[in-house]
Amino acid sequence: MVLYFSGTGNSRYVAQKIAEISCDDVISINQRLKAQDYGRISSDKPLVFVGPVYAGRLPRVMDEYIKKVNFTGTKCAYFIGTCAQTPWMTVEYVEKLCKEKAFSLLGFNSVVMPQGYIAGGGTKPKEVNDKILKEAEPKIIKIAETIRDMKMLPKEQPGKAMMSKILNPMMYAMMISAKGFTATDKCIGCGKCETRCPLNNVKLVNGKPTWGKECTHCMACIAGCPAEAIEYGKKTQGKPRYFLGEK
Ligand SMILES: Cc1cc2nc3c(=O)[nH]c(=O)nc-3n(C[C@H](O)[C@H](O)[C@H](O)COP(=O)(O)O)c2cc1C
Ligand code: SF4
Ligand code: SF4
Repeated sequence: MVLYFSGTGNSRYVAQKIAEISCDDVISINQRLKAQDYGRISSDKPLVFVGPVYAGRLPRVMDEYIKKVNFTGTKCAYFIGTCAQTPWMTVEYVEKLCKEKAFSLLGFNSVVMPQGYIAGGGTKPKEVNDKILKEAEPKIIKIAETIRDMKMLPKEQPGKAMMSKILNPMMYAMMISAKGFTATDKCIGCGKCETRCPLNNVKLVNGKPTWGKECTHCMACIAGCPAEAIEYGKKTQGKPRYFLGEK
């Protein structure tokens, strides 16, 4: 069973590729969180978790979801982190999670994908993103084939501790908030931002989105808006939106 959490589509893309090559089923953690569905998940094949790296760890909401759910059948798990540069020490936190869940870890690998954090590190032009995606493809296929063959993923050298240990809690305390989001006059009231938010943090009021206090900075609302009508303070003005998949 392949389970993914994804804001701008990178992890969903990788998860779908793995599922296709390993002939497995896919579950969207976004949809489960949205429905507050923490029901049991049973799988005979190894569990494959795919998610973005947020300041050197998996997103807290993904970690919390995995902790809450009862997984039956297999106890073997793979973890894949998509990132824009490096996963830092994500592997250390994945190992901790596996210990807590009594999972037998068959490996953690990272895949460098286009930067999706428009409200944080910014985004790159389309040509750059296309090149990054092309370069990522062989690694995604290799990972998927290793999972299909139920082999261990090759060990990757973990990055420095600074981001995962020190900056991660700082980022959650100081940066991760929906306060900066606003909708401009370009909004056509389609409701996709409300539908896409995995935490039900976006609500349309009189046809325009409003944001609540539950936000994990996944960027699904701003990046997936078909009218590019969402801004995050001044940080996002004039910046290209990155979203992999249909808007
Ligand atoms: C809140 C946040 C924090 C991030 N931190 C990191 C990081 O520490 N290292 C990195 O390489 N990329 C980082 N990124 C970039 C994402 O990991 C990358 O764009 C990822 O592929 C997005 O996956 P998704 O499209 O499935 O949401 C961060 C993105 C966000 C939104
Ligand atoms: S996705 Fe964009 S256009 Fe659609 S309601 Fe939200 S802000 Fe408006
Ligand atoms: S409000 Fe936007 S950025 Fe925050 S969790 Fe919802 S979709 Fe993601």
